[in-house]
Amino acid sequence: MSYTERLPRTRTYLMCPPAHFTVEYAINPWMDTTVPVDPALALKQWILLRDALTDLGHTVHVLEPVPGLPDMVYAANGAFSVDGRVYGARFKYPQRAAEAAAHRAFYAGEAGGPWTFADPVHVNEGEGDFAYLPAAHGGLILAGHGFRTDPAAHAEAQEVLGRPVISLKLVDPAFYHLDVALAALDDENIVYYPAAFSESSQRVLAQLFPDAVIADRADAESFGLNLVSDGRHIVLNSEATALGEKLSAAGYTPVHVELGELKRGGGSVKCAVAELRP
Ligand code: ARG
Repeated sequence: MSYTERLPRTRTYLMCPPAHFTVEYAINPWMDTTVPVDPALALKQWILLRDALTDLGHTVHVLEPVPGLPDMVYAANGAFSVDGRVYGARFKYPQRAAEAAAHRAFYAGEAGGPWTFADPVHVNEGEGDFAYLPAAHGGLILAGHGFRTDPAAHAEAQEVLGRPVISLKLVDPAFYHLDVALAALDDENIVYYPAAFSESSQRVLAQLFPDAVIADRADAESFGLNLVSDGRHIVLNSEATALGEKLSAAGYTPVHVELGELKRGGGSVKCAVAELRP
C-alpha cells in the first residue's frame, strides 16, 4: 500500500462528565440494569478521554451534567452542527428527552460558535446518527435510521444544514446508532462494518467510498467504530486493538483509551464526544 501522510486538523468538541451516570433503564441491547456501574471509574475514564483530546491540541467544552439524566454523558446525541448551523436533537425515548434542552442552551450561549440553532420536528439523535465528511463530494452528511432517528429527520437535516444527506439503513440492533457502525476517518474517508447496514445501503457506501477501511464484526462489537478522529490521530477504546492495527496500516495513528464503564450504557469514545463545527 502506498503511504499517505495523514494530516490532523484542530477540532472543537463538547463533552459532559458522567456525574449522574447509571444504567437504570435499558434502551439498547448493551444495557443491563442488573450490573451496577462504578461511578468513580466512569469519571476517571472520562477524564482520561478528555485529556487525550486536549493533549492532541483540541479544545473541549464541557456541558453541565443534569441530575436524573444518566445517559447525558453520551454528548454526541444532543445535536449535529455543520458550518455554524445546529440541527437540534429530539430523542426517541422519554428517559433522554430532556437532554435536548440542555444542548440547546449550550448553543444559545455561543461557546465555540456563533451558532444558528434549528429545533427539530422529527426524532433524531444528533451525531449518534449523523456524520459529516466536509471534503467528500463537496460536503456530505451520512445519516442512519432503523432504530432511533426517523428517516424524515434526514430530509429535515438536509433543509436545515444545506448539505446532501445520504440515508443509510441500520439492520442490526447491536449497532443501533450510525456511530457504532461507521466513522469518519478524516474529511473524506470512512471506516465501517458493512453487515450493520441493509444490502442496498452497503451498495451506496461502496459506491461513495471505494477507499473505505472495512471493519469486521469483532471490531464493531469492541465498539472500535465508535471513534473520534482528527484526520490523523484516531482515539478509540482499548478493546479495539485489531481495528487499531487496520487503521495504522492505512496510515493513521491510533490512540487507545480505556472506556469500559461507558460501554455498559452502550457507548464508547464517539458517543461521549460531540464535534462542534462552527
Ligand atoms: N444509553 C444510550 C442510549 O441508548 C447510549 C447512547 C450512545 N450514544 C451514541 N452516540 N451511540 O441512548
